[in-house]
Amino acid sequence: MTRVVTLAHYYTQPEVQQMADKVGDSLELSLYARDAEADIIVFAGVRFMAETAKILNPGATVILPDSGSTCSLVTQTDVGALAAWRARYPDHVHVSYINSSAEHKALSDWIVTSRNVDDIIADLYSQGKKVIFSPDRNMGAYLNFQYGYDMPLWSAVCEVHDKFNEAALDEAFAAIDGKGTRFLIAHPESPLPVLKRADYIGSTSGMLNWVRDYAGDPSAVLFVATEDGILYNMHQARPDLDLRQAPIYTGCQCNSCPYMKLNTVDAVRRAQAGAGTVIDYLTPAQMDAARLPIERMLEFSQ
Ligand code: 13P
Ligand code: SF4
Repeated sequence: MTRVVTLAHYYTQPEVQQMADKVGDSLELSLYARDAEADIIVFAGVRFMAETAKILNPGATVILPDSGSTCSLVTQTDVGALAAWRARYPDHVHVSYINSSAEHKALSDWIVTSRNVDDIIADLYSQGKKVIFSPDRNMGAYLNFQYGYDMPLWSAVCEVHDKFNEAALDEAFAAIDGKGTRFLIAHPESPLPVLKRADYIGSTSGMLNWVRDYAGDPSAVLFVATEDGILYNMHQARPDLDLRQAPIYTGCQCNSCPYMKLNTVDAVRRAQAGAGTVIDYLTPAQMDAARLPIERMLEFSQ
């Protein structure tokens, strides 16, 4: 019998998450994919996630439900230009966010996710290493600001998180201040002025845990600066809390990732039956080169 394992990122729709064997952030899903005893892995996420699953579990057939599920951090990065940029810093360690193509990963010394990026870069600096960071400019700017690093940064952004806007946020805060308590939790792909206003910054799982464990004023308004899919998980975990997505402009709490939302129930169902985009275009040499920096991260994180 064919063993099919379905993985879904927190940004997919609730109905899709309900079809999955495992729902998680990108680090959790990578680990799950690596260890899955599966003939077919259906990855309800985006292409770089499915590629990572294939690289870590090359014996499985990995299927992306919709071929259009890309990520702006990947499409904004020309790999030839990245290689030239990397060559300008021969004495630096190249740390790349997991939201990158397999060719991009192969040009990297370390891969990180939003869950372990702070610790891995701190460890490199503690060894006296010099670091360059790609592709997420917002995440890199946050790390440079927060820890006083001077990492040269590649310049791509998440088109979803980059929309969160501090002026709209300040207006939303002003409607509450003086009358009640409010908090902001944010994903580090958000712009630095938004992150400077945050009470907690972390990965999707980190934010979910923060909400789950929240023990402050029960009437507080909790603003969440990330993709709207995870609000479902947060409401489920804590139906008692006033959770609101951070605004992208006045009155608009409606920020979602178009690529994640291509994972419709029908597309995932078709993928579970074997139809979809099979990740079969990476050569063994490409996979080997990309696996090395991913495995460094997984070893560090375990
Ligand atoms: P996580 O690593 O928090 O799952 O984030 C992945 C992502 O694509 C965020 O936009
Ligand atoms: Fe990429 Fe942003 Fe969508 Fe995440 S939310 S998959 S970073 S475009």
